[in-house]
Amino acid sequence: MKSKQPPELPKKIPTHVAIIMDGNGRWAKQRGLPRLAGHRAGTENLRRVIGACIEFGIQYLTIYAFSTENWGRPEDEVLGLMKIVEDVVDRELQELHDQGVQLRHIGRLDQLRPSLREKVLRAVEKTQNNTRLVLNVAFNYGGRDEIVCAIQHILCEGVKPEDVNEALVSRYLFTAGTPDPDLIIRTSGELRGSNFLIWQGAYSEWYFPATYWPDFDKEELRRALFEFNRRDRRYGLVNTKGKGQEGPGSNVCQ
Ligand code: IPE
Ligand code: IPE
Ligand code: MG
Repeated sequence: MKSKQPPELPKKIPTHVAIIMDGNGRWAKQRGLPRLAGHRAGTENLRRVIGACIEFGIQYLTIYAFSTENWGRPEDEVLGLMKIVEDVVDRELQELHDQGVQLRHIGRLDQLRPSLREKVLRAVEKTQNNTRLVLNVAFNYGGRDEIVCAIQHILCEGVKPEDVNEALVSRYLFTAGTPDPDLIIRTSGELRGSNFLIWQGAYSEWYFPATYWPDFDKEELRRALFEFNRRDRRYGLVNTKGKGQEGPGSNVCQ
């Protein structure tokens, strides 16, 4: 008798997956290594997860790499993180470009040191026409800061109060043009949002694996997608058509 193989992938692939890449420090501590070794391992893992996203047909991936609150960490960790990011851009940009990844940055660039700022801008420009996967890198990003920034721009442009609505606000966020995330994953077992996509995540599904980020691999991502498929997204409505009904606001699932 033939045994039935479980499907490789679930039916619905989320259009946009966002990840809070947490647990690098604890991963390093477990191994008696310095925290920066954890950040380097986390960066290596990112390459694998990007490959898996492309393979699974995810169109947008947003990663939380450095929050507005992370400036408060010890100076050597902050400087180390800046250096790791610069090295990653130097080392990985060509391969990401060849894979068809379009890099975008969300957060405030003006507070970054000039060498990093310029590298980010160059990477964004070089990959702007790629279409396989949009990779939003949240670096020096905070959800509240993003909303403050949007309000400042709206006021500066003299938008009339009666013209302010949810669609307009969305267009003033760093993520303008990106659909809201369908699935937000936070690794390491912490059960909080830590100022990530607080506007865009209003109706996202959340998933909290216990795995530390450097160990979150393709199989873990596959598990997250199966879990996403078990969710019943009701958007505040009453589900009359059975499980899996999508609400009117949904522009997300295939
Ligand atoms: C996430 O890992 C990476 C950044 C915040 C830059 P952490 O550094 O927060 O790792 P833990 O939470 O201390 O284990
Ligand atoms: C959130 O993780 C920020 C990033 C992963 C970049 P943190 O480790 O900084 O958040 P808290 O301190 O646990 O809330
Ligand atoms: Mg953490």
